[in-house]
Amino acid sequence: MKLIAISGSLRAASFNTRLVDLLIDCAPEGVEVEKATLHGIPLYDGDLEEQQGIPDAVESLRARIKGADGLIIATPEYNAGMPGVLKNALDWLTRPGSEMKPTFGHRPTALVGATPGQFGTAFAQAGSLINLRQLGCRLFPDYLRVSSADKVLPDSGEVDAELRKQAASFLEGFVGFVG
Ligand code: FNR
Repeated sequence: MKLIAISGSLRAASFNTRLVDLLIDCAPEGVEVEKATLHGIPLYDGDLEEQQGIPDAVESLRARIKGADGLIIATPEYNAGMPGVLKNALDWLTRPGSEMKPTFGHRPTALVGATPGQFGTAFAQAGSLINLRQLGCRLFPDYLRVSSADKVLPDSGEVDAELRKQAASFLEGFVGFVG
């Protein structure tokens, strides 16, 4: 089984990208988790789409999503929502409109997120459900919400042992959901 895990942060030292790395580490036997980032995706602009078509970075991410059995989205939380960078990428990926269903329709999809704050990106994840439902994803009902990310996913040193267990169990559940 192949899963693709997209980090919704562009930062080199992103906690969400580290969370993706942790999921890659925790992958059970026979499951490959591929990391994707959103670097190189321009701001959505209808004129750009009309004049130049869909950017290569979007097409290549789309091909990777279509080639995976399941999608994991690691969202940071900005002002209680998903960051613009991530929403922008999702918007591009639904263009042209005829690509929305083949890219997202019925695709098993899980949301995860990490923040140094207290609520583990709960607000961003809850808000993102509206968008992912609109895209037609088959949403995994469980969640992985990482609080105090600066402590449990530190710049240097070990990932927190409890978080590692949670991530492994979350992934095992999602693998079962993907089927
Ligand atoms: C934040 N941050 C934040 N954290 C949170 O838990 N709830 C929030 O509503 C916000 N709002 C917010 C707005 C903006 C504009 C920024 C830049 C940051 C903090 C955020 O969780 C933190 O910067 C994370 O480190 C971002 O994720 P990455 O880049 O580490 O993956």
